[in-house]
Amino acid sequence: MDKSVYVQETAMYVRLQFEQDASGHDWWHIHRVWQLAVKIAKHEHADLFLVEMAALMHDLDDWKLSEQQGGENRSQKWMEKLGVPGSFIDKIEQIISEISFKGAGVDTTPTSIEAKVVQDADRLDAMGAIGIARTFAYGGNRKRQIYDPEIKPEMHIDFESYKKTNAPTINHFYEKLLLLKDRMNTAYGKKLAEERHRFMKLYLDQFFKEWNLN
Ligand code: NI
Repeated sequence: MDKSVYVQETAMYVRLQFEQDASGHDWWHIHRVWQLAVKIAKHEHADLFLVEMAALMHDLDDWKLSEQQGGENRSQKWMEKLGVPGSFIDKIEQIISEISFKGAGVDTTPTSIEAKVVQDADRLDAMGAIGIARTFAYGGNRKRQIYDPEIKPEMHIDFESYKKTNAPTINHFYEKLLLLKDRMNTAYGKKLAEERHRFMKLYLDQFFKEWNLN
């Protein structure tokens, strides 16, 4: 079994699935998460194969995007087709299932170092300059307003209420993005998160300065 062939084949498959996405979850999001996950995995001595496969497929069956996908388990089906041994499939599926953000009050700390690495990489791509771009792209894709001063951010205590939100995009910074810095799992992830967090704060300060004309 040549693991690098699995990784390359999977990259090509995933690229085809996400090429047309305009919700901030396009192929280049997946590519950045993949590359960043490899970098963090090396610092953490995590299993590279598991990390790469989970990073590449982490959004294939994500709940945010699943309505377009008909709710089927595409990552598992793909790996079976590819001939990845079952013991690896189970581990990779476990990692993928543990990484999604499910609301401010919901604990989603992963159980393995590999899942911690992929979660950090995915969350880092939701932060900073790229994170801001992706957040507005996602909001527009979901027909959300940019900002409405009459709608205050909400700290969702459970996944159900988080899933249902249709609040303006600026609220998402307070409901998720600014919380990520303190939820990083790895030392290297924490380090990268600091700068991206600062940039988002700077952006929001400027946004409200312009909004309030001061
Ligand atoms: Ni993602």
